[in-house]
Amino acid sequence: MNTGTEPCTSCKKSAKWRDDFPVEWEGDNYVTRREMVKFLTLGSLFLAVANWITAFGSRSLRRGSQNRQLLGPSDDLKVNGSALFRYPTEKDPCIAVRTVEGKLVAYSQVCTHLSCAVVYDKAEQSLFCPCHNGRFNLEQGTPIAGPPTRPLPRIRLEESGGQIYATEREA
Ligand code: FES
Repeated sequence: MNTGTEPCTSCKKSAKWRDDFPVEWEGDNYVTRREMVKFLTLGSLFLAVANWITAFGSRSLRRGSQNRQLLGPSDDLKVNGSALFRYPTEKDPCIAVRTVEGKLVAYSQVCTHLSCAVVYDKAEQSLFCPCHNGRFNLEQGTPIAGPPTRPLPRIRLEESGGQIYATEREA
């Protein structure tokens, strides 16, 4: 019986485990280096694929809220007025504003500073966060005053047939 410690007598080869785990230091280093390169190559490949999947997945999630949801009649939202709604889920408060120019815009109502609810300030024609006096413009939802540094996520709206629909939440 060959225990693997001696070369195989019939084929004159050493046991397979001795090739994988050689006792001699030179051979051991050689295998370790080769295995390390293989490990790093496969590891890098795995990380690249994982990053790609994560990036693609998060992009899909960001763009995933594309269900069309009826908000109500267009006439209910007067010029320089606002209305609250929830989109894409009941846990996502949003605010729609019809600007003085008659343009319809909507954003998440959750302030990007510390998550207080923003409200429409008719006098300033901007979105105002009363917690720390944060302020966002109506055109892009970008912060224009106070501590917020990130814009409010935009909600795409569509008006058709006298009704307003939410169609997509942007990142
Ligand atoms: S939570 Fe809105 S400004 Fe701080």
